[in-house]
Amino acid sequence: MEPAKLTLDPAFTIGPVERRLFGSFVEHMGRSVYTGVFEPGHPAADETGLRRDVVDLVREMGVTVVRYPGGNFVSNYHWEDGVGPADERPARLDLAWRQIESNAFGLDEFMTWSAEVAAEPMLAVNLGTRGLREACDLLEYANHPVGSRWSDLRVKHGRREPYDIRLWCLGNEMDGPWQIGGKTAEEYGRLAAETAKAMRRVDPRVELVACGSSNSRMPTFASWEATVLEHCLEHVDYISAHAYYDPAGGDRASYLASAVEMDAHIAAVLATADHVAAKLGSRKRLRLAFDEWNVWSNSLFGGEASLDWAEAPRLIEEEYDVAAAAVVGSLLITLLNHADRVGIACQAQLTNVIAPIRTEPGGPAWRQTIFHPFALTAAHARGRVLRTEVTAPGFPTEQYGEVPVLAAAATYDDDEGELTVFAVNRGDRPLPLDADLRGLPGFADVRHVAVADADPGARNTQETPHRVTPHPVPGTALHGDRLSALLPPVSFNVVRLTRG
Ligand code: AHR
Repeated sequence: MEPAKLTLDPAFTIGPVERRLFGSFVEHMGRSVYTGVFEPGHPAADETGLRRDVVDLVREMGVTVVRYPGGNFVSNYHWEDGVGPADERPARLDLAWRQIESNAFGLDEFMTWSAEVAAEPMLAVNLGTRGLREACDLLEYANHPVGSRWSDLRVKHGRREPYDIRLWCLGNEMDGPWQIGGKTAEEYGRLAAETAKAMRRVDPRVELVACGSSNSRMPTFASWEATVLEHCLEHVDYISAHAYYDPAGGDRASYLASAVEMDAHIAAVLATADHVAAKLGSRKRLRLAFDEWNVWSNSLFGGEASLDWAEAPRLIEEEYDVAAAAVVGSLLITLLNHADRVGIACQAQLTNVIAPIRTEPGGPAWRQTIFHPFALTAAHARGRVLRTEVTAPGFPTEQYGEVPVLAAAATYDDDEGELTVFAVNRGDRPLPLDADLRGLPGFADVRHVAVADADPGARNTQETPHRVTPHPVPGTALHGDRLSALLPPVSFNVVRLTRG
C-alpha cells in the first residue's frame, strides 16, 4: 500500500498541550455513580463507600477533570438534597432518566472522590427547573470561606476549607427538547449572562461555560450559539460542544472517520463565536469546552420515555470494541489538533454508562477497549502540539466523501526532548507510515505501541478483561531524520521518540 506521509517541524506549533483535554464525566445516570464510583459494602470500598478499585483505574487512565452531576440529570437537581447527614437526605424522582435518586452521593462525596482520583472538579448548575439564585447558593456553599448561610452549612457538614471549584457549566444542553426546563436561545442567553454576572460576584475566580448546541445535527445548530453568545459572550469563558459518534448510525467507513465530523463541528462553533465577537466589536477569542464526547450507539437507545422508574438501573452500558478504540483515538487526536482553541474536553462518561471503565455490583472493575487510547494520550501528550502535515491515501466514506486513511497528531516536550506521534489507521489493511522529522534530530530510542487486534470487533468483558490491551509493534525504525512504521489495520498507535 502507498505510504502515508507525515511532516513534523518544531517551528510549527498549534498550542500547548492543555491538561484539561483529558477530562471525563460522572452523571447521576444508570450505574455511573451508584455501583460505579460509589458502592458502600463492596469488598474494595473504603469507609466512605468509594470503590478503591475504580479510583485506581481512574488514576491510571490519567483523568484530569471530571464534570458532575450531569448531563440531563442536573436540570431537575436539588443540590441541597445531596449534602448533610446521609440518613436525612430525601429520595427524589429524577425526571431526566426516570430514576429514583437516593441522594446518598452528593457534592461532598464527589469532592472527596475527585481529590482521591486527583482530578479537577467541573460542576454544572441547574438552569432548567432552577436559576440564578440557586446557582449562587451552590457556589457560596462550595467556595465562600465562612460566615454566610451556605458556607456555614458546608462548615457544619465538616468541610472547613472552601472547595475552590473553578470550572462551572451554566446548565446542560438547554436547546434540547428532552431537557427538563429547556429554553429558547434568547431565554437561555439572557439567563446565562445574568447567572454568570451574579456568580462572578460570589467568586470572581470562576471559569464559566455557556451551553452550545446539544449536537451539530440540531436544527438550530450555530444559530443557537450566535444568539446565546450575543447575550453572554463577554460574561463567559467557554462555549460547550457535545457529540456522540454512532457505530450503528450509518456506514462503517463514516463511523471510522467520525473525527472529520468533530473537526468540522469545532470549526463551526469557533467561527460562530468569532462572528459574534466581530459583530459586537469584541476582541474576545472564546475557547471551546468539548465537555461531552464519545462513541455511543445512540440510534439504538429507545429514548427517555422508554425508561421505567428504577434505582441505579443498567442504562446504556455500551460494550466497546477495537474499532471504537480507534475512533476514540482519532477524536483525541482531533482535540489535540485544536489545542489553540479547545481548552477543556470531557469524555462521556467514566463508569458503566457509555464508559471506559465497567464495574459489576459486588464484583470486579475492568478497562474497556476505549480506556487504552485515552490513558496513552493522557500519559504521553506533553509539552506542545506540533502542526502535522499529513498526506495519505484516500478512505472512501458515504458521509464525508474521501478522507485520509491516517489521522495523526504530534506533541513535543522541549524539557524532556521527547517527541510523540499519535496515529490512527482507519483502513482494513496495514498502513506504512513515513514521517519526516526535519528540525528534530538526534533521537536514539523509538517505542511503538498499538491498540489493535486481528478482529476489530474484539472486546474486553468481565470474563476476558485483558483481551484488548496496548501491545508493542515491531519494525518501527529511525533512518536519520525519517521515521518508518507499519500501522496495523484499524488501530490506534503511539510512537515515542526519546534521545536515550
Ligand atoms: O451522557 C449522556 C447524556 O447525553 C447526557 O446526560 C446529556 O447531556 C447528553 O444528551
